[in-house]
Amino acid sequence: MNSDNLLKKRLITVDDALSMIQSNFSIVSAMAASEPTGICTRLHEAADRVENVSVCTCLPMQPYKWYMDPAMKGKFFNEGWFYGPAIRKAHKEAGTCSFIPNHLHQAGTDRLYNHKPNIFIGTCTKPDRFGYVSLSLGVTYERLMIEAADTVILEVNENMPRTYGDTIVHMDEIDYLIDNTAPIPELGEVPISDKDRMIGRYIADLIEDGSTIQLGIGGIPNAVAAELMHKKDLSIHTEMFTDGMVDLYEAGVIGTVPRSVREKILTGKMVATFALGTKKLYDFLHENPAVAIMRGDWVNDPYVIAQNHKQVSINTCLEIDLTGQVSSESIGPTQFSGTGGQADTAIGAQKSDGGKSFIALYSTASIKQPDGTRKTVSKIAPHLALGAAVTLHRSNIDHVVTEYGVAKMKGVSIHERAKRLISIAHPDFRDWLEEEAKKVGFIV
Ligand code: COA
Repeated sequence: MNSDNLLKKRLITVDDALSMIQSNFSIVSAMAASEPTGICTRLHEAADRVENVSVCTCLPMQPYKWYMDPAMKGKFFNEGWFYGPAIRKAHKEAGTCSFIPNHLHQAGTDRLYNHKPNIFIGTCTKPDRFGYVSLSLGVTYERLMIEAADTVILEVNENMPRTYGDTIVHMDEIDYLIDNTAPIPELGEVPISDKDRMIGRYIADLIEDGSTIQLGIGGIPNAVAAELMHKKDLSIHTEMFTDGMVDLYEAGVIGTVPRSVREKILTGKMVATFALGTKKLYDFLHENPAVAIMRGDWVNDPYVIAQNHKQVSINTCLEIDLTGQVSSESIGPTQFSGTGGQADTAIGAQKSDGGKSFIALYSTASIKQPDGTRKTVSKIAPHLALGAAVTLHRSNIDHVVTEYGVAKMKGVSIHERAKRLISIAHPDFRDWLEEEAKKVGFIV
């Protein structure tokens, strides 16, 4: 059957898709920029005839009514692998959400261990003449769910870039397609501050030419990318493909000529499992053979990452204690984001030949108080806040960087760790940190 006929045979409307949802169903949605906005915008319309429907999401980009509205409680339940601003608000105010602890490379497989999805909803490009669509901006768990779900419904969005790698799927694997050409969710560029630049420079100084890099989410990783402009022959093996990486490629910093001795996997390709950024990034990815968007259970597997040469992982955190325990995903017990691939990439990088991992943070945070004022706190703390989730275990910590310098933590005693961390804390908090460290015996 030709491609047009395959497409026509599968075309349904959003109403048809909604009518397939039944009480107690388990639905999984594609993540971030790949989320199907047509279905998500109207999912709440099924609320008058269903209850207890679980919808698994990861970094949802819009405040959809099906989980923002408190009236949806008992109808829909957003089980999230990674929180963003909307789901944080809904968790607090609507009681319609809960977080699923996960290492990103295992998110899909762990979920399938307990829940077979009835429906997977996602997005794709228009089919090519052979009947293949591209899952475009991510296959972190999407490919796995397409294989496992009873019913697969994808929205065909002509704005989605056609990426290569594990994203290419034949229409025979998809049950239904919905025509929905819509704007792709974007993550605005975060401006780079002076502190970001200082941190970026410390890290860039420790990254050797010929390294393979991973950058996480936030302003600091963007600054690191900007500081890598003078490096040579870098490779990319990352969870998230970002705008900063496009700049590095365009500046000629990324080598795409295969280096058989050094790159052992997917030589010559920039490897990621999802992409999120601006239109500039999405245009760059369209039909770009230099980029391979591969399954998250492979890209983020520490044993895969470890095969790269000089793999460097750079992530940020919310708080670190004086022994090196890192919390990047919660403020006390309140879920802020997710573990994502922080532990995956930090562990993988340290196992790679010549690899390093960095946790970068500002020395202080300015925290909104209930009365609207702001209070400055040290992000290097004697102890993590009560109830905080440990994102990176202290035994997996390597370099910690603030605007005051670099603390090397690997193989170092708690006595020495505390001293090194205090030396890169904000000067206003150093005496207090030392006093607290002595009180509990971290410094002896
Ligand atoms: N105590 C209390 N609140 C704190 C805090 C602390 N120690 N540190 C920061 N905060 C607050 C800030 O005040 C800010 O609040 P606001 O939104 O009201 O201003 C908020 O937390 C966010 O802080 P910010 O520093 O702006 O975060 P960011 O956007 O740079 O993101 C992470 C940083 C750590 C949340 C983000 O990188 C993340 O989610 N990481 C985990 C996943 C990961 O690393 N994945 C890697 C592979 S992609």
